[in-house]
Amino acid sequence: MTRYLITSALPYINGVKHLGNLVGSMLPADVSARYLRLRGEEVLYICATDEHGTPAELAARDAGLDVAEFCRINHEVQRDLGERFGLSFDHFGRTSNPANHELTQHFAARLDAEGYLEERVIRQIYSNADGRFLPDRYIQGTCPYCGFEKARGDQCENCTRQLDPTMLLSPRSAITGSTDLEERESRHLYLLQSRLSDRLREWLESKVGDWPTLATSIGLKWLDEGLDDRGITRDLSWGVPVDRPGFEGKVFYVWFDAPIGYISATREWAEAAPDGQRDWESWWRLDRGADDVVYTEFMAKDNVPFHTVGFPATLIGSGEPWRLVDRLKSFNWLNYYGGKFSTSEHRGVFMGDALELLDADYWRWYLMANAPESDDTSFTWEQFAEAVNKDLVGTLGNFVNRCAVQVTRHFDGVVPSGGEVGDEERALVERLGVIVNEYNGFLDGLEFRKAAQALRALWAEGNVYLEAREPWRAIKSDRDLAAMTLRTALGVVRLHAHLSSPFIPSTSERIAATLPDTSELLGVGPELATSVLDLDPGARFVAPDLLFQKLDDDLVASWEKRFGS
Ligand code: 2FM
Ligand code: ZN
Repeated sequence: MTRYLITSALPYINGVKHLGNLVGSMLPADVSARYLRLRGEEVLYICATDEHGTPAELAARDAGLDVAEFCRINHEVQRDLGERFGLSFDHFGRTSNPANHELTQHFAARLDAEGYLEERVIRQIYSNADGRFLPDRYIQGTCPYCGFEKARGDQCENCTRQLDPTMLLSPRSAITGSTDLEERESRHLYLLQSRLSDRLREWLESKVGDWPTLATSIGLKWLDEGLDDRGITRDLSWGVPVDRPGFEGKVFYVWFDAPIGYISATREWAEAAPDGQRDWESWWRLDRGADDVVYTEFMAKDNVPFHTVGFPATLIGSGEPWRLVDRLKSFNWLNYYGGKFSTSEHRGVFMGDALELLDADYWRWYLMANAPESDDTSFTWEQFAEAVNKDLVGTLGNFVNRCAVQVTRHFDGVVPSGGEVGDEERALVERLGVIVNEYNGFLDGLEFRKAAQALRALWAEGNVYLEAREPWRAIKSDRDLAAMTLRTALGVVRLHAHLSSPFIPSTSERIAATLPDTSELLGVGPELATSVLDLDPGARFVAPDLLFQKLDDDLVASWEKRFGS
């Protein structure tokens, strides 16, 4: 039987993540994990905080905290927010944990043994004003490929090319803006990626047509341009130490140890089991049973080169049989009113702010229904309010509420008995079956917007059915018909609760709690559609409190004012 390993790009530790970060990796990964669990699959969803590198050091310095303490606190903040957003990680680890130190050193040793590491003395940028070597991303300048003036020393955000800081034109310190920079010599380890190029290409070409074009094209473009050997160590104190003579006081580059964090967090997950029965290697090593694993990675597009070339180079170059990614789902940018969300400038809506305003499901729904899959998209408060008011309040909430009112008023809050199903119900079941099939197909194919559209269509069927049968009218002339209609409608409510759970898990739970025997629904097959006719009469139906709050214009305007547009 296939097992599903899912990872979402590890969020940096340097602050609370914004909605763009959330929709670009963790949220779709969660929807996928929840869907697969619903389908009855064995799923392992792993994430962690990415804690090394200069962003962490600088954020800690700004916060006046020791970097280890800063990371400890912020890991907890992110863990808590993830939980409140309903992110169902099986484990949320930390790249600064011992398991990741060990595995990072293990991979470096393996790469060395396989002849893929080389010591090189390089000239590096030292900033006199900052009193330190400047890490790549803290040197800003003009991209030599596309002319973008705010390219970072590690990567150009505009053309996604990986850079070396010495390639930048007009370089300056991104920390102080100082141009008083000089080159100094330093010894570093290089991963000889160029020698792995053919094997990477063969592997990546096998994914063309299978993965979204965005993912394969970014990786192949990089290979086409000729793979540079990559420095994997840095002159920093915070990170995984390099266990090698002459490398005292140096650490591995954060992008070398971060993806290894997927594996080490899996090991942490296994070690956290009280019974010692979890086997992390069976998820990752082909020689330990991982050949039945389908491994899916979720990430934003700027992470694609690291996952199509960087991390696979580490795994392949180790000479050990590690599981490589099978399905890579990448996302474009979610912008904030056409501009970027920005952590440093606190522009946009951040996970903590969002939960202060509304429960997670409002955000989950809006974000996934508008996920930046084929293009960059923009968050606007108007669009957010429209999605909430139309879909959650007007379609799903309205349907459940109409059922609740009728059943409470006319049947005393009991699932009504009596009446015979007719053509209307048979047609309903058929339509639901078609939509359920589509929904599954889209989620199997990691097409989240389309899946959300199908779910919205499923919700709408409830209202269409009520309007066709008009139980509020039937109750006056044909009580059996009204009873049968409302029983069927409650069956649809149960179906909604079941199938909506990947997108809006806590609302699904609330809806499910209104009905008995919700646990009878299993899987995601189209046969679920007939379940709407199977609800046992006589059971109690407990009307839920209002499911969703309508967002009126004044409220939306006040948020727009508070957060800017
Ligand atoms: O871009 C980012 O936010 C990185 N922290 C993602 C790391 S993904 C993985 F490789 F660790
Ligand atoms: Zn560029």
